[in-house]
Amino acid sequence: MPTLTIGDVSKSFPEGTRLVNAIEALGFDVGHRCGGKARCTTCRVEVQDGEPEAMTEAEAVKLAENGLLGSVRLSCQVLLDQDMTVTPVMTLQTEGWTDTGPATADAIEPEPVWTTVSEAKERS
Ligand code: FES
Repeated sequence: MPTLTIGDVSKSFPEGTRLVNAIEALGFDVGHRCGGKARCTTCRVEVQDGEPEAMTEAEAVKLAENGLLGSVRLSCQVLLDQDMTVTPVMTLQTEGWTDTGPATADAIEPEPVWTTVSEAKERS
């Protein structure tokens, strides 16, 4: 089972767990203001280690649109398939929200169409 590490906290999760859900399960109030549908970017994380090469088209488009491609990943669009170390960027505490957003499903939404980080960068 892959392990997710944030700061000095680590936990193993079943392979394929949606990263945004694993972050919450680890006790961090990461944003997901669009409900995990690749629209808001509040679920963004900096990846220190273990960034997956796989990327959904929805994430590629949204990151490019916001000038974020190459600096962060959208945790609602990432599956935990390998050990990762990340830092959530927008949280309940940093943004002063009253909540982190609507609950996110177990599976990636919208239905993922996969590309790669390299392809997404080449296109942008
Ligand atoms: S983009 Fe909105 S929760 Fe990921």
